[in-house]
Amino acid sequence: MSVIALINQKGGCAKSTTAVHLAYWLYRKRHSVVLVDADAQRSSSIWLESLEDPVPYAVAQTSGQLMAEIPKLLEQYDQLIIDGPAGLSEATKAIVLRSDLAVIPCQPTGVDLRSAADAIQLIQQAQAIRNGAPKAAVFLSRAVKGTRLKDEAIAQLQSLKLPILKTVIHQRQAVADTFGQAATVWDLLGKASGEAADEFEQLFQEIVALT
Ligand SMILES: Nc1ncnc2c1ncn2[C@@H]1O[C@H](COP(=O)(O)OP(=O)(O)OP(=O)(O)O)[C@@H](O)[C@H]1O
Ligand SMILES: [Mg+2]
Repeated sequence: MSVIALINQKGGCAKSTTAVHLAYWLYRKRHSVVLVDADAQRSSSIWLESLEDPVPYAVAQTSGQLMAEIPKLLEQYDQLIIDGPAGLSEATKAIVLRSDLAVIPCQPTGVDLRSAADAIQLIQQAQAIRNGAPKAAVFLSRAVKGTRLKDEAIAQLQSLKLPILKTVIHQRQAVADTFGQAATVWDLLGKASGEAADEFEQLFQEIVALT
């Protein structure tokens, strides 16, 4: 049993995109998995509901709801993927307190790296009271190929004292198109979606290996 949460106070860093793709990837491998949508925008649950092969999901947004729902869902499912809200709210704190693994997507910009540092601080506070849990890792998301920003971001992330996943998820229109097309990258045709699917596969192998 494992609870994997995607968190970062910064909006738009790909928490929902990653959570939906990870839940779908596990579901297609016949894992017993449910996505917990903790964001008031409800984008990940709306997205999952729109898929041809809908992945189970639950909505829990307040810290109270999350504290109550997560243990109940763990009685029914082996794996929980939590799509965290933007901001470091009480809900995010509850998520960090109930997760086995917190994954922080981070875009390669100065503002995003600053936000990642805040999320890491929150995780470290939880680790201090939970005997080292949750495990945590950060990965670079929405990186533009060939830019110096990406290389600089990798160097800066290395100073954050948190494992950095090797896989970098690149910015691709095919990924941006998935929500609107009621699909995931595995459902879309074309070279770009195939490349995005390969990156997600590699990232998720790394994430699962940490649980
Ligand atoms: N690899 C990618 N390439 C291109 N676009 C992407 C990629 N990943 C995410 N996006 C797009 O970036 C936007 C933000 O992504 P997403 O909604 O997953 O972020 P989020 O962290 O969940 O944001 P919020 O904090 O607002 O919930 C969306 O329009 C999404 O389609
Ligand atoms: Mg989101």
